[in-house]
Amino acid sequence: MYAVLCGPGERGNHGGMTIAFLNGDYLPLEEARISPLDRGFLFGDGIYELIPVHGGRPIGFSLHYERMREGLSALEINLDWTLEQWRDVCSNLIDKNGAGNLAVYLQVSRGADTKRHHAYPVGVTPTVFGFASELSDSADIKPLKISSAEDKRWRRCNIKSTALLGNVIHFQEGQAEGRDETLLYNGAGEITEGSTSNAFVIKDGVVATPPLDNQVLPGITRLMLLDMLRKEGSVQIEERIVMMQEAKEADEIWLTSSSKDVAPVVELDGNPVGSGQPGSIWKTAQRIFAEQKFDY
Ligand code: PDD
Repeated sequence: MYAVLCGPGERGNHGGMTIAFLNGDYLPLEEARISPLDRGFLFGDGIYELIPVHGGRPIGFSLHYERMREGLSALEINLDWTLEQWRDVCSNLIDKNGAGNLAVYLQVSRGADTKRHHAYPVGVTPTVFGFASELSDSADIKPLKISSAEDKRWRRCNIKSTALLGNVIHFQEGQAEGRDETLLYNGAGEITEGSTSNAFVIKDGVVATPPLDNQVLPGITRLMLLDMLRKEGSVQIEERIVMMQEAKEADEIWLTSSSKDVAPVVELDGNPVGSGQPGSIWKTAQRIFAEQKFDY
């Protein structure tokens, strides 16, 4: 019903081999090499996208492309590939890795320098890397049990940067408590997002999600879901500041991402969310999402 990421070793069909893209070439992932002076390695100086592929069909490709362009522009990384160029890489990765359910990652770093120096090097060629992991469709819905923590990340979370250590630490905090994800709130007690997902809080039939600003990644799943729900019209949608206290008193909480679709949260910090079961509005939202996901 909703997707789960598998590690490369779990790719049964291809004997564990994944074909990657690196700077114009397709090659086995194990053979892909980049310089240790790549600024992606030295500084996390790059951006990435995860494009979900269901049954061989990418979801929201042009929206991911637009976000990638915005990230490249924000970081002044000069790579002006067209939508068609990126689409080709994505299609080839799907073809070469078996057209099932995949997470196609497209990653761009500023490139490999000749020395370690903070300033952006002039005239460096960006490193472009793409690979695919399996996204398995599970017939069993696995509702999420999550933790909460104060958001300690940088103040430019709207950029989908590969510099993810803040997110990694927050995700790990949840894992250490045996939880599936960590919901983050700022110093004012306002929800920002999950460490790898956007957050929705539902109370009395109203679906609320934090507005887009520098504390939140503009998630493609979030964007698509909001659009679908607004068009469908049966639930009220609010993009507004959502307090952590509201999450504690919510009827439902959902987390969205390209690998999760719309996932129901049934437990927050050890306490049941609503009835402790996936809620009825989530069921509607997930059905609408599944029906319309290829329309974007
Ligand atoms: N994560 N917020 C954060 C911090 C994220 O890392 C993600 C996605 C999202 C949801 O964005 P989208 O709907 O575009 O996937 C929100 C991806 C899946 C990842 O890091 O693997």
